[in-house]
Amino acid sequence: MTSRILVTGATGGVGELLVRRLSARGDAVVAHARDRGALAKLVAELSGAPGEVTGIEADLSSLVEVARLASEVGTIDALVNNAGVGFGSDRSKRETSRDGFELRFAVNFLAAFLLTETLVAQDERHRLRAIVHVASIGQAPLDDADLMSAKPGAYEGVLAYRRSKLAMVMDTFERAARDKTRSYVAVHPGTFLATKMVRDAGITPQGKAEDGAIAVEHALDAALAGASGVYFDTVREARANDAAYDAAAQARLREAARNLTAPFAV
Ligand SMILES: NC(=O)c1ccc[n+]([C@@H]2O[C@H](COP(=O)([O-])OP(=O)(O)OC[C@H]3O[C@@H](n4cnc5c(N)ncnc54)[C@H](OP(=O)(O)O)[C@@H]3O)[C@@H](O)[C@H]2O)c1
Repeated sequence: MTSRILVTGATGGVGELLVRRLSARGDAVVAHARDRGALAKLVAELSGAPGEVTGIEADLSSLVEVARLASEVGTIDALVNNAGVGFGSDRSKRETSRDGFELRFAVNFLAAFLLTETLVAQDERHRLRAIVHVASIGQAPLDDADLMSAKPGAYEGVLAYRRSKLAMVMDTFERAARDKTRSYVAVHPGTFLATKMVRDAGITPQGKAEDGAIAVEHALDAALAGASGVYFDTVREARANDAAYDAAAQARLREAARNLTAPFAV
């Protein structure tokens, strides 16, 4: 059975290769990107693929745009929250989103949170059945008192990235425990794969981007088959950072994310 799948961050790296794999096997794909030209090029190139590929544009560093994306995408069977910001080229430089939030927390976690929250809320017919958060094996406990990594002089891009990725895993586990009508999984696609974010961080790639796409496709298929509340290290089920399993911390994170995103929700 084929599905209609939204993939965020689809014009490069793991996301683009995933779109190519899914459309080749006949799934209809909604490819999301912020770069209009690159998106049009990808959609045109895949116009003859077995599965239809359409494009949708949004800058995920703006939660208004995330909410608009959710309202415009239409009915989908699965969501892959793949778009992300890496360590950055200057790890001591704290960047902010268009809404003024710390950039990694905003794009990697809050955008995925609001997109998931909105799509689930508007999915009255329960067609949306699989949500994949592309997280990372790099996970660090959050500081509830400093979710925006704003403590003066303490900013570190790798730590901010790892916190945002643990937040994605916590969100996966929290949703899976609460919503038994859908599947929620998180996946680490591979370590230092040859993609833009790894090169931008000045790191020599250690793996192929294609293997990352294979890992995310595996997680997606597991979710479509009913696996939920699972974290995959590439294609193997694995244990996440201990902090991801703390139900009280999950609840606090959900409350904080709801409060931060509420002003932007439609
Ligand atoms: N590569 C690795 O070794 C590795 C390891 C663990 C986890 N991951 C995760 O895998 C996912 C895919 O990353 P990748 O390795 O394929 O890196 P990538 O090639 O840099 O892809 C990141 C994607 O996210 C998009 N994106 C970033 N900021 C955005 C924004 N504000 N609005 C919309 N789109 C935005 C990028 O769009 P632009 O092209 O327009 O910038 C790009 O399509 C990420 O979640 C990453 O954290 C990767």
